[in-house]
Amino acid sequence: MDIRMYKPTGKIQNKHMLTLRDYSTEEIYEILHTAVALKQKQRAGKKHAYLAGKTLAMIFSKSSTRTRVSFEQGIKQLGGSALVLQQGDIQLGRGETIRDTALVLNRYGIDGIMIRTYLQSDLEELAKYSACPIINGLTDDYHPCQVLADLLTIYEHFGRLEGLKMAYFGDGNNMAHSLMLGGAKVGMHVVCCSPEGYMPNAEIVQAAQQCGNVTVTSDVNEAIRDCNVIYTDVFFSMGQEKSPEKVAALMPYQVNGALMAKADKSAVFLHCLPAHRGEEVTEEVIDGAQSIVFEEAENRLHAQKAVMYLLMKNKR
Ligand code: CP
Ligand code: NVA
Repeated sequence: MDIRMYKPTGKIQNKHMLTLRDYSTEEIYEILHTAVALKQKQRAGKKHAYLAGKTLAMIFSKSSTRTRVSFEQGIKQLGGSALVLQQGDIQLGRGETIRDTALVLNRYGIDGIMIRTYLQSDLEELAKYSACPIINGLTDDYHPCQVLADLLTIYEHFGRLEGLKMAYFGDGNNMAHSLMLGGAKVGMHVVCCSPEGYMPNAEIVQAAQQCGNVTVTSDVNEAIRDCNVIYTDVFFSMGQEKSPEKVAALMPYQVNGALMAKADKSAVFLHCLPAHRGEEVTEEVIDGAQSIVFEEAENRLHAQKAVMYLLMKNKR
C-alpha cells in the first residue's frame, strides 16, 4: 500500500506505543499523516490545543535531550502539560515496583506516560497496570518514536516510502531493530549491515522479515548499493560498557566520505543523534550536504505530537 493513497481516519486501535511490532502499516500511516497535519498547523501558527487539560508523565531512567524536550514541547503545543520524573528523583529509583508506580499514577489523572528505560519487559509491566497509554521513549530493544520521526523525514524528502532502500550501518541495537520493523512495514527495503558479534537480535530480525523486505549482512558494499537512505547510530548505547574490541569491530562500518561516494548523490544521511563524530560517522558526512539530521531531530516533535494526539485524545 502506498502512503500517498492512504486516507487518514483520525483513529488508531492501539492503546499503547510499546514497539512498532504491534502497529499495522495503516496505523503507522495514520501517525505520519497526523504528524504532517500538525506540523503544518504549527508552521502556520494555528492554535491546535487538541489535548487541552491533559497531562503526560515522563519517566526517565536514562539521559535524554531530544526525547525530553520534544515530548515536553509537544504536549504544551497540544494544550496539555508535562510532568518530568527522573528515576533518581522518584521512588522507582529506590526499588518501588513498576506495578505500584503504575497503580499510584492511575490515581492522579495522568493521561499518558512516556518512559525511557532499560528493559522492554519493564515497559510491558507498566502497560499491564496503567490506566493510560504508555509510550516507549527508548528501551534497550526498541526506539519506535525515533523511527516514526525518521519515516516522516524520509517521506517529506522523497515524497514516498515504498520502494526506497535504507541501509543501517553499525551496532545491531535498539535503532537497528526499530528501523527494520518500521521500514519493512511501510514497504522499504531495510538492510542492517553489522559485523559478526554485533548483529541485531535474531528473533527481532525474523519478526521484521515477516513484515517485509529486511536483509542482514556484514557486506558494506552490498548494503550501500542503490541506497536512498544511509543510517548509523552510536557504537555504545546508553548502559553499555565501552570496549576497544567493539570499536575495532565497528570501525569498518563507519559512515564516511568513501562510503557515501558509493551511494547516489540523491541519497540522504540520517542519525538519531547524539552523534560521535570520528566514530560511527565522520564530520564531513554528518555536517555535509546529504545530511538531514536536524530536520530528523525536529520531526521528533511532530511525530510524537501525532502519537500523543492519537493515543491520548480519547482517554477519560
Ligand atoms: N534520539 C534521541 O532519542 O535523542 P535523546 O537521547 O537526546 O532523547
Ligand atoms: N542506541 C542509542 C540511541 C540513542 C538515542 C542508545 O540507546 O543509547
